[in-house]
Amino acid sequence: MTAHPWTDPDRPIEQRVSALLEAMTLEEKVGQLHQVVNPDPIQDAAALAVGAFGSCIVASGAHAGNTRDAGTQAETVNALQRAAVETSRLGIPLLVARDVIHGHRTVFPIPLGQAASFDQDLVRQCARAAAREASADGVRWTFAPMVDVAQDPRWGRVAESWGEDAWLSAHLGAAAVEGLQGGPDGGRLADPESLAACAKHYVGYGLAQGGRDYAEVDVGPVTLHNRHLRPFAAAVDAGVATVMTAFHTLDGTPMTAHVGLVREHLKGRLGFAGVAVSDWDAVGELVQHGVAQDTRQAAALALRAGVDIDMVTGGYAAHLAGLVRDGSVPAELVDDAAARVLGLKLRLGLFDDPYTDPGRAAAVQLTPEHRALARRAAAAAIVLLRNDGVLPLAVGPDGARHLHVTGPFATARAELFGTWTLDGRPEDAVTIADAVRERFTDGATTVTVDDGRFLDETLIAARAADVVLACVGEHPMRSGEANSVTSIDLPPGQVETLEALARVSRRLVVVVLTGRPLALERLDHVGAALLLAFHPGVEAGHGIVDVLAGDVPPRGRLPVTLPRSTGQVPLHHDHLPTGRPLDPAGPVGRYRDHQDTPLHPFGFGAGYSEVVYGQVGLSSPTLEPGGTVQVSTRVANVGTRPAVETVQLYVRDEVARISRPVSELVAVRVVTLAPGQAQEVTFDLDARMLGYRDANGAECCEPGTFTVRVAPHAGGGTSASFELLGAAGGGAS
Ligand code: NOJ
Repeated sequence: MTAHPWTDPDRPIEQRVSALLEAMTLEEKVGQLHQVVNPDPIQDAAALAVGAFGSCIVASGAHAGNTRDAGTQAETVNALQRAAVETSRLGIPLLVARDVIHGHRTVFPIPLGQAASFDQDLVRQCARAAAREASADGVRWTFAPMVDVAQDPRWGRVAESWGEDAWLSAHLGAAAVEGLQGGPDGGRLADPESLAACAKHYVGYGLAQGGRDYAEVDVGPVTLHNRHLRPFAAAVDAGVATVMTAFHTLDGTPMTAHVGLVREHLKGRLGFAGVAVSDWDAVGELVQHGVAQDTRQAAALALRAGVDIDMVTGGYAAHLAGLVRDGSVPAELVDDAAARVLGLKLRLGLFDDPYTDPGRAAAVQLTPEHRALARRAAAAAIVLLRNDGVLPLAVGPDGARHLHVTGPFATARAELFGTWTLDGRPEDAVTIADAVRERFTDGATTVTVDDGRFLDETLIAARAADVVLACVGEHPMRSGEANSVTSIDLPPGQVETLEALARVSRRLVVVVLTGRPLALERLDHVGAALLLAFHPGVEAGHGIVDVLAGDVPPRGRLPVTLPRSTGQVPLHHDHLPTGRPLDPAGPVGRYRDHQDTPLHPFGFGAGYSEVVYGQVGLSSPTLEPGGTVQVSTRVANVGTRPAVETVQLYVRDEVARISRPVSELVAVRVVTLAPGQAQEVTFDLDARMLGYRDANGAECCEPGTFTVRVAPHAGGGTSASFELLGAAGGGAS
């Protein structure tokens, strides 16, 4: 490798970037802004030699999350790097990206499932493990985490989200950024086991009209600032290296061309110094949106808006140099974008060593440690919705002697992974049937299995069993990108099958595997227990059985409200009050044909033990703007089994200049309680946790009464009120 000022690791990164920019032609700078798909070191040798592209994505195509592909390996990436570094004039390495969404070879639960753990550490660890594994294949950039707040379960991409709540999305999204990048504040990007993260899809994508993917979004500025921008602000605070702009139009302006939200807000007010990348072909799609007459105009609009990298359209590569030369686009915008890309490559250490040790993959992928983490995560994602006492399963001489496992997920493998699992291998997956056999088969208990293809056969087997475990739910192709539904019921036929099973089974346990919240009202009286497992990943079988057996206490909490029916959608806990509040016990509701309440509220999840909450106590009835008030409650496990309790703190601002939500989640504490154990749980609440942003995005926090509620879920708990004594700089992070 030739020595240049920018290859000197002892120089500060800014100096190395400046030296590079001085040496580069306009075409070379534009090359850094062009991202191609699946380049080949031989076929693309000429392009690599002139630095025609600066990054690439390894993907199957425009709907990559729905199709498995061959992936990549260190040797291929090394060959590309060799060509980029050794045959080009300036020796600039490539940045290789791939969608590493919830694991790589080791597949963790879908993000919505991880969110059910309400556990930042767990999310951070899963992201770190994914980074270790993907980086071993030469990937150094992932398009994750998705931090879109998702309140419409018809939208398939709810699977990739952290659910409906802005606080949870912000905190879990930031944890994922830290895990991928190797720590907070930008982490240890230069560590070869780190990936550059990408907070996506900026911004408001979760509001796609009717849940139809890619559809237009209309949102007021207050909701945008307080709900949808918040996780992006948190990701920027966590040092996220890149942000992806979304496909949709927001109030008529495509996000790929949104000067106000990308260049001015993200890069200006939020101070994002990293790289903004378009979504797949979204620069070209500006023509379809009807804001550009051709790709040339689209390229100009996107660059002006602040999109640094054009993912696969080729609009920048074809037109930016010409646009600069004829004065249509200022050269400084190209310089700024190129500087951001080069700065990222330098921070990733790619100029110091662009190569990946081909031996590393075998050593770090699907290790026993990663499997153990996946097992823990799968168990932590499970939400126990109902249990009449059949769980934990007792087997053997004093319990069940015959377990029957059935349903489409009983023997499934790849389907356990969920959407966006490009590198998981079906043969690695632990099936539910195998895990049940492993845990429960002994001299006194037998396990039988069928996959539910012939219901009459299943019914005969179910009748003979003491306990039937029915594993039902959605195929992963029903969630994820471009996979929306008009009905969030279980897929056709499944409820009827479960009703038939309930009629012949002594005890029926239903496990629902899904990529979205489903309307499960019809299962409310079917069977003896109901669990929601999301799509649990490679250790699905073990994770589910750990919970069924009671080896691990059920601890998952709903990261989304569970509606009773599709018609209630969107339904979320942090809605605004109405002028005519609903009396849930009153005779008049909003809907003429259904109850108004959700089936289960946000944050809900049962355990095997009973946990009771005491009254909320406050350290003071007043809070000075710079001070803290302690909010405490006693949480007691009064049952006979261990409990992992997710204690949730909600706040309501009683009177403000704008109407504030009926309740907002502001903190969570997870406590483990042995049978009979009680613990005082205390939250330190300060004024920054009470604030909001106004329509201009300015932080506000006005004096007055606030009510706090410590609760097991959004629909419960006890509350107390205090006075904030003066205006305070609010905080919406
Ligand atoms: C389109 C998706 O919206 C985005 O999430 C993904 O990262 C890109 N395609 C690249 O595959």
